[in-house]
Amino acid sequence: MYAKLGWSEHVRNPILADKFPGPKTLTALKRGIPLFKNGLRFDAEMERAGRRGFRPVRQIVIDRAEGDFVWDLDGNRYIDFQNGWATNPLGNCHPEIIEAVEAANRRFGFHYDHPLRYDLAERLADIMPAKALPRTNYEVSGTEAAEAAVHLALTHTKRRYIITFSSSFHGNGLATKVLSGLEGEKGTYLEGWGGGVIKAPYPYSDGLPADLSEAQYTEYCLWYLDHHIPSCIAARDNIAGILVEPGLAEGGNWIPSTRFLQGIREICDRNDWLMISDEVLTGLGRTGRMWGIEHYNVVPDILVYGKNLSGGIAPLAGISARDDILGDNKSFSSGSTFAGTPAGCAAALKTLEIFERDNVVAHAKRLGNIAAGIMREWQSSPIVRQARGNGLLLGVSFGQPESARKDEKDWWTARAVRGRMLEKGAWAISDKEDTIRLYPALMMDEDVLREGLAIMEDAIHYVEQHGHVEGDVAAYPSGVAGF
Ligand SMILES: Cc1ncc(COP(=O)(O)O)c(C=O)c1O
Repeated sequence: MYAKLGWSEHVRNPILADKFPGPKTLTALKRGIPLFKNGLRFDAEMERAGRRGFRPVRQIVIDRAEGDFVWDLDGNRYIDFQNGWATNPLGNCHPEIIEAVEAANRRFGFHYDHPLRYDLAERLADIMPAKALPRTNYEVSGTEAAEAAVHLALTHTKRRYIITFSSSFHGNGLATKVLSGLEGEKGTYLEGWGGGVIKAPYPYSDGLPADLSEAQYTEYCLWYLDHHIPSCIAARDNIAGILVEPGLAEGGNWIPSTRFLQGIREICDRNDWLMISDEVLTGLGRTGRMWGIEHYNVVPDILVYGKNLSGGIAPLAGISARDDILGDNKSFSSGSTFAGTPAGCAAALKTLEIFERDNVVAHAKRLGNIAAGIMREWQSSPIVRQARGNGLLLGVSFGQPESARKDEKDWWTARAVRGRMLEKGAWAISDKEDTIRLYPALMMDEDVLREGLAIMEDAIHYVEQHGHVEGDVAAYPSGVAGF
């Protein structure tokens, strides 16, 4: 793959600096403390971590990125499972995408209407589930797209309520904050804004209440949607629809059962509610199918996308919907100034062209199977609660090593494993959560994937043996923190 694209040779077996992070990275991180949000809080948090003997947060600053790798300011190389928050389907800085984006910028600069908008809308209509969602509305970010989908559902049905789920994430706009199933404290001061949002439980496969099985809990969640909500929260005919992630992405890469998503479809059909699939993260090949919802043999009424569509270079997001929903709706309005830039459309068109040419989604599926085979074994570790995945949507949740039942959610353990991975050359996400999430590029080289997972396996064993406390933590300079 690299040779074909003329990319540079990659050097394996990185030798990281003795001190982690290295001096240049450390200097950059310290510069950020007075400049960025939470700088002071992280500073305090680092000191607290040090006092309590926890391993501190590990963070890097990227100097350059290419293919499956990133390098920090000190020249250390990392296998990239962070993937620009899951936005680089073809790996970092893919030369063909860069070329397409540069050509679009040279030709159009920025103008709202241009032929690439039309080319892409046709292409998107073609790849939608069952080709049933032919109408497109572009947005800049996944946040705007999720908000547009909800506005579309409310205005189409002329109803006031929308149902979303616990631990869901739909973005960081004001509306998406209240749509998301945020931790309680994050909703403080937003209490006046979420009047039309009803939160329902999402059926996780681990850590369920009352010793319920996943199947029993799923039935409870469906009962909640179809009976509890209409009987005591909002009238059945005042509910516009259900906004659901077919894989609870930022919430921890949870994989729902077929019964749950098919159950939602049935409930929506029966009640005349719209089913909105938020595929900003699960979409465009991440799960080894073009759309996450396709694993469930379900066709939504509105589909939300973003992230991968950028080809890792130029942001673009949007929604697709049924003809009768988006074709003629006088009350719906959406699409900000930069929605559907020539550069974004060019990146998306080239990405989809490469998807087809190089069988990218099939490659992701094959890599997902390889990852599943390796990660399954990790479940015997005393600190691993569950390893799970759907294609390359991969997550491992952790528990206290000293707990026999492993049932105490514990983000310090997850963070310790993620920190050790980073020290050994693999970069993954654990954002104050008990899960480490991995988003390999869909075209990641198989050897690189295996090498990164081997680093993670070693890190799990290391934390198993040494705990989440690090001996030399006092020597770690305060003031360096973040995710
Ligand atoms: C499912 C889902 N919806 C919406 C968003 C928001 O997208 P963006 O960050 O591009 O605004 C995200 C971001 O992670 C997401 O995972």
